[in-house]
Amino acid sequence: MYALELKNIAQRLMADDKGLLAMDESLGTCNKRFKALGIPETEEFRRKYRELIVTTPHLEECISGAILFEETLYQKTESGISFLEILEHKGIIAGIKVDQGTVDLPAFPGEKVTEGLDGMRERLSAYYKLGLRFAKFRAVITIGEGIPTRTCIKANAFTLARYAALRQEAGIVPVVEPEVLMDGDHSLRQCGAVTRDVLHTVFNELYEQRVALEGMILKPNMVLPGLSCPDQSDTEEIASETISSFLKVVPAAVGGIAFLSGGQAYQLASERLNMMQLRFGSLMPWSLTFSFSRAIQQPALEIWKGEDKNKDAAQKMLYHRAACNSAARRAEYNA
Ligand code: 13P
Repeated sequence: MYALELKNIAQRLMADDKGLLAMDESLGTCNKRFKALGIPETEEFRRKYRELIVTTPHLEECISGAILFEETLYQKTESGISFLEILEHKGIIAGIKVDQGTVDLPAFPGEKVTEGLDGMRERLSAYYKLGLRFAKFRAVITIGEGIPTRTCIKANAFTLARYAALRQEAGIVPVVEPEVLMDGDHSLRQCGAVTRDVLHTVFNELYEQRVALEGMILKPNMVLPGLSCPDQSDTEEIASETISSFLKVVPAAVGGIAFLSGGQAYQLASERLNMMQLRFGSLMPWSLTFSFSRAIQQPALEIWKGEDKNKDAAQKMLYHRAACNSAARRAEYNA
């Protein structure tokens, strides 16, 4: 029923060298990042921080969509304007994180599955009425001794696809996020093999569950060596392993690909996206952009530190990182 609308929204999210801003940290994650910088872990400080983000001047030049966390949907600026209204005014499409985090996969030590299916149909219909037009659901895959197992990959792929189908039914573009984590000492090649396996399984499930690929966005990890792998690979190898993996397993029909940053240093995330565009831009059948949280926000958060006097400088940094990633999308990033 929403096929055309879904496709149009996906195209708008991927248009004009822009990307997505993930500002959907859960309470736990947001508080953890605040704590590390001595920022009070309260609802008011989370509100202030998110006000800083959505009111950043000219953000809309580089950001097409913002992924929000439930708490943020109903928050307002100091002067009483709702964040959703501000985003709409800027022409930034509002989206939401709909998963409820990960839990241990029973009988599979070290592996996780994502929760959040209960009551989803009703929640999605309420989100649509609020004006939200896309939603993210994240699953995580860990590489380690004997993992990931087939069972874990299949369980997560099934859940990702089931949610994607529900979102499309509600007129909401699914952002499908199967994240292969960077933790561990695995090599670039191992990450490539696991990422291909995961994506292959996910697209099989999406097909089985009749998800329209044109009306969805894939939010994958870049193919990277584990954080403690002695060989950290150069930008060119990473770009090549990532794009050659996607060319094998991501159908051309997909509405777009928008990377998570996954804890990479923010300059590296931009450099790697830039290299993919520079070397492989003409080979790619899909548009490729960013959907970063830490790689856009972290330096701004470190400047802000919870203090009003730092707000302008933090906003300038936030805009700067967003603009850097938009430049990377055009293969024009200059570190
Ligand atoms: P990172 O870019 O920090 O990996 O975050 C992506 C994301 O989806 C956050 O919710």
